[in-house]
Amino acid sequence: MKRVTRDEIKALFDRAEKERFAVPAFNYSDMWDIRAIIEAAEEMRSPVILMCDPPVYKELGGSMSCELADMFIQRAKVPVIHHLDHSETPQNCVEAIDFGFHSVMMDASSSPIDENIAIVKSVAEYAHDRGVFVEAEIGRIRGESEYETSYTGEDYLFDLREALRLVRESGCDSLAIGIGNAHGFYRGAPELNFDKLAEADQAIDIPLVLHGGTGIPAELVGRCISGGIRKVNVGTAVYTSYMNGIRAKLLMDGENQFTYDVMKSGVDTTKNVIRDWIEACGARGKA
Ligand code: 13P
Repeated sequence: MKRVTRDEIKALFDRAEKERFAVPAFNYSDMWDIRAIIEAAEEMRSPVILMCDPPVYKELGGSMSCELADMFIQRAKVPVIHHLDHSETPQNCVEAIDFGFHSVMMDASSSPIDENIAIVKSVAEYAHDRGVFVEAEIGRIRGESEYETSYTGEDYLFDLREALRLVRESGCDSLAIGIGNAHGFYRGAPELNFDKLAEADQAIDIPLVLHGGTGIPAELVGRCISGGIRKVNVGTAVYTSYMNGIRAKLLMDGENQFTYDVMKSGVDTTKNVIRDWIEACGARGKA
């Protein structure tokens, strides 16, 4: 299968930088939400990143994830990048690259900085030789379960000196930064640190990535993009809108429904969410 190359992905991010938008990136689970993501992107003429997160990768396997995504990517009328999200081992990245992923995230952010650098560097060397793009992460990005219990402010923000070392020494192509963002639903309002974002934007010259999109209001997403974010990751909002669409259909029409009618309801509710995020990213018309 033809993959979208590292150079093409870099060119897209260069354009996003010049035209001040972010490339929207969505986690998928199956063919129906992939279809929702791509149809919404086509309707809005937006480039889009399809992200396979570790539980989905584990369930489908790398080969099937690629074949499934490629079926849609080949037919898509907009650029679609297939990305492995939050890989915690270099072996997983290597396997995904061999299966045909266009881009991988090596998340060694929970390791000490020297280890993070060494791990990302090994993945970047392998990936770059094969024309694959690599995202790294610095600073802990909160998980839902940690949000209230163990959040201690500064602990979760990235350190600029470490971020610069990671970028320079590992050769990664983009960087996810912790600025107070969290995965899953936020309990209370998200507290994003825009001073830290400005620090990163000034000093780091590769695309900056915002994880934990779900629950960040469009206005704050806009501020992040003005502040230099060039990729926005959204997962929970995709999963829950899909499931809520299915549930609403079953509640309305009762049991013994045809599969397609039920799934179509999930596709429609997911598409509404994807459209809102594409708009929030300023990516409409950027394909
Ligand atoms: P949310 O589930 O909070 O939207 O975060 C998704 C994400 O960052 C995937 O890497």
